[in-house]
Amino acid sequence: MNVDVLRKLLLDWYAVHGRKLPWRHNQDPYRIWLSEVMLQQTTVTAVIPFFERFTKKFPTLKQLAKAELPSVLELWAGLGYYSRARNLHKAAQNIFEMESFPQTYQELLELPGFGPYTARAVSSIAFDQAVGVVDGNVIRILSRVFGKRIQHWTTEGRKVLQKASDQFSLGGNSSNINQALMDLGAQICTSSSPRCRACPWVTKCQAFKNDLVAEVPLKKPKRPTEVWRWRAQIIVQNKKIALIKNDYAPFLKNEWILPGVVKKCKKRPKTYAFKHAITHHAIYGSCQKSIGIGQRQGVRWVTRKELS
Ligand code: ADE
Repeated sequence: MNVDVLRKLLLDWYAVHGRKLPWRHNQDPYRIWLSEVMLQQTTVTAVIPFFERFTKKFPTLKQLAKAELPSVLELWAGLGYYSRARNLHKAAQNIFEMESFPQTYQELLELPGFGPYTARAVSSIAFDQAVGVVDGNVIRILSRVFGKRIQHWTTEGRKVLQKASDQFSLGGNSSNINQALMDLGAQICTSSSPRCRACPWVTKCQAFKNDLVAEVPLKKPKRPTEVWRWRAQIIVQNKKIALIKNDYAPFLKNEWILPGVVKKCKKRPKTYAFKHAITHHAIYGSCQKSIGIGQRQGVRWVTRKELS
């Protein structure tokens, strides 16, 4: 299919129907980057008030770089994933030390908190670097327009999509192209009730033509749930509780957790003190007070308050 034709249709549609969002008033990389980090967690509608508050308090990268971390975290409350706010603050400090804001996704990838998606989104939207983005919206609309059953969760599938998205950006005006792809996915080519008749690509869309809209994008196969019993030990010395770097449970890998043992079960246990699910792990836990940690290395002693 001719990508140039699709590009033209998309850009014309975006000029009329693109959303007027607060991070689109100009091409300030700081605001664009901030919006991308916030949008990793929630919807555009939910992000707008957080974005407005944040940029009112920290209108420039310099002001964020100079801020105390707690005041940054305070403005993040409600968005969740505080590690993203910490990385944002750290990266702002790094960028502030540089001559200018890095303009390529290769440079951005070196900074804390920048993954392949965010680096490409910022370099293309703020600096027009000719790189495509691949997020849920883009996966959906490209799978549909090409009418392909792409296994987007595999390395091979991702590569196909990245290459296709890059093709759109290579024609120029990458900033608008990527934002237009996002808007088309959010407003027209939605997952459950796409508005195909209003789509600028309706006459080109292979999924529409072949009645595949409900079938593509493919659904990622769900991993079967595993049931785990977790017997955690509470070891107290001098009013402090022992934590170890998780080296025994398949969930919470490398996190600081209570020492203990885990066992994979065929059935859900009848008795347990707490239940928790992390990805495909259904965890049934209990805690026991225990004495002495023995000769273990790498124990971290924390107060009850620090534990929470
Ligand atoms: N979703 C992720 N990034 C976005 C952006 N820049 N505009 C609209 N929706 C988005």
